[in-house]
Amino acid sequence: MKELILAANWKMHKTNQETREYLRKFKAMQEEFNSTEVVFCPPFTSLRTADEELYSTFFKLGAQNMVWESEGAYTGEISPLMLKDLGVRYVIIGHSERRWILGETHEQINKKLQAVFEYNLIPIYCVGETEEVRQAGETESMILKQIEEGFQGIDFSGVKNIVIAYEPVWAIGTGLTASGEDARHASACIKEKMDNYINGDVTRLKILYGGSVKKENIGEFVSEAGIHGALVGGASLQVDSFVGIIRAAQEALRK
Ligand code: PGA
Repeated sequence: MKELILAANWKMHKTNQETREYLRKFKAMQEEFNSTEVVFCPPFTSLRTADEELYSTFFKLGAQNMVWESEGAYTGEISPLMLKDLGVRYVIIGHSERRWILGETHEQINKKLQAVFEYNLIPIYCVGETEEVRQAGETESMILKQIEEGFQGIDFSGVKNIVIAYEPVWAIGTGLTASGEDARHASACIKEKMDNYINGDVTRLKILYGGSVKKENIGEFVSEAGIHGALVGGASLQVDSFVGIIRAAQEALRK
C-alpha cells in the first residue's frame, strides 16, 4: 500500500487552548492512524502547544510559512531555526493565499525553498492555477513555471523528501474541487518536471491534492496512483471531520 500523507492546514485558526483540546481528542484515536503520515500545521502561536501534545506520537508538526534566514532584522517573521527548535518537520511554502493575498514573490519562495532544504525540513510546496489560467487552458504551463521558479538553482543532491501540493486556486475554500483526472494530469506534469531535478528518483517526491477536500471526495484523489494524499484546510478544523477524511482515505487505499 502506498504511503499516505494527510496534512491539516489550520490557516489563521485556533488558540492554544483550542489546539490542545483538538489534539487531545485526536490523540485518543492515534492507534487507528499510525500507518498514515498525519501532519498538523497550526498557526505559529500554537506550535509550542502542538509540539507538547504531539510529542511521543507518530504525528508530525508543520508550519505554514517561514523566512529564509536563521536570524536577523525581519520584523514579524519566523526562521527555520526557530521552527526546528519547536519540533517542526514540514513547512508549507508558496501557499496561494500567501502568493495572491499577501504578495509573496517567486524570488522569496525560491529563497524559502532553499532554506527549507538547508535546514533539513520538508517543504509542502504549493502550486496550482488560477481560474483565469484554467479557462485559458494554461494550467500545465503555470504549474511548470511555478516549479521552475521555486526550485531554481537548488542543489537536490542531499534532498531526501519533497512534498508538492497541487492546489488549484479556484478550488481552495470554495467547495469546488478538481476531478481525480485533473489531479492525475497535474501529478504527471509535476513528476515529469521533477524527474530532471531528482534524477528519476521519484521515491523522494510525494504529491498531494488540495482544495475543498472532504471525506466524500478524498477517495477519488488518493485512488490515483500519482497522488499520495491531501493538504486539507477547512475540513481539518474539526476533529471529527478530519478523522473522517483519514478513515475514508485509508479505506480507498484498501480497495
Ligand atoms: P481548503 O484549503 O481545504 O479549505 O480548500 C486547502 C488549502 O488551502 O490548503
